[in-house]
Amino acid sequence: MLNVKSIRGDFPILQDPKYIYFDNAATSQRPRQVMEAVEHFYKTTNANPLRGLYEWSVGATEAYEQARHTVAEFVHAKEDCEIIFVRNATEALNLVAYSYAMTNVQEGDEIVLTVLEHHSNLLPWQMVADAKKAKLVFLEPQADGIITEEMLKAVITSKTKIVAMTMVSNVLGRVTPVANAAKLAHAAGAVLVLDGAQGVPHQAVDVQALDCDFLSFSGHKMLGPMGIGALYAKRALLETMPPFLRGGEMIEYVTRNSATYAELPHKFEAGTVNAADAVGMAAGIRYLQQVGFDAIEAHEKKLTAILLEGMKQLPYVQVYGPEDAALHSGIVTFNIEGCHPHDISTVLDDEHIAIRAGHHCAQPLMEYLQEHCRMEFRATARASVYFYNTEEEAERFIDAMGKIRKWLGF
Ligand code: ALA
Repeated sequence: MLNVKSIRGDFPILQDPKYIYFDNAATSQRPRQVMEAVEHFYKTTNANPLRGLYEWSVGATEAYEQARHTVAEFVHAKEDCEIIFVRNATEALNLVAYSYAMTNVQEGDEIVLTVLEHHSNLLPWQMVADAKKAKLVFLEPQADGIITEEMLKAVITSKTKIVAMTMVSNVLGRVTPVANAAKLAHAAGAVLVLDGAQGVPHQAVDVQALDCDFLSFSGHKMLGPMGIGALYAKRALLETMPPFLRGGEMIEYVTRNSATYAELPHKFEAGTVNAADAVGMAAGIRYLQQVGFDAIEAHEKKLTAILLEGMKQLPYVQVYGPEDAALHSGIVTFNIEGCHPHDISTVLDDEHIAIRAGHHCAQPLMEYLQEHCRMEFRATARASVYFYNTEEEAERFIDAMGKIRKWLGF
């Protein structure tokens, strides 16, 4: 069981109980341990890492590489060099698209995606498909987001070169069957690209057990700073891939007309790296490890159950995604009859409750839900919890939900 009261003591922004922060799928809050780690870096060893031959620069390099080691251990990568630091999950997916896919996808090949994808795991593949005359093939899940093995088998064929899918839908909160996808992708000779932005912060991830080829995730959704994230990729793939960005520190030797590239992972980290935030991301990971994912998952499911049960009692509320809290990853997406999601969010804000409303950067899924669930607007409201939220907050939220229609004049 989590000691949520003591955990909340670590989060400066959560000290005023008036505020309920239920927009954790957009970005999490940060404990003081993360802020202190970033501050400590700047106060004690700030210098440009990987370049200088003096004490502070060497210290900065050591702190940066130690952060990489922490991230590698966290997702159980075989080697530290399989972790590339990037700005966020979006940049990680673009790196795979520009470097791996633009080299390996040919005319007539297929890229398999699901309708659940966030735009960041869709637009890079649209770019590749356009440039290479390849085809995007979409897996349509059940209306509640469930993907079966049969659905995967129907879209993954010998023409498939890439299977790109999210671990958890940022709209429906549904966890996808990624281990099945890895087996089927590999049997077809394809690679599996996982968008872990909503998965890695909420469940223990083992890239070797999953056997995924690429995994993207952001630091800011898991207690870390904004502007830092990671791409995990199998070393054998990274070795064959060309650099994504070119410039300082990613080279071995440069002449006027040519260059050879640095060893992994530096080949993919051009320019001055974001060492301080990598250190902050590692501090966030240590915090999560100390709390433990068993406890985190159990607590999030308890809060999700309160939200789902409470919403069930309100006849004018439509919830999307599975009815069972056990199948959600801390995300509950809903609409209220006659109320635009932006209005729902705005009136909840008057009560100091933060949720996200809109298309959630998943417009094809909005279109799909409109068609399959008779959604009034091409948008939803979304409450997303993390382990520092309380049962009392979930109950206060449901209480406010019961008043929204009245506040909006119904
Ligand atoms: N991708 C983030 C979300 O779902 C920003 O809100």
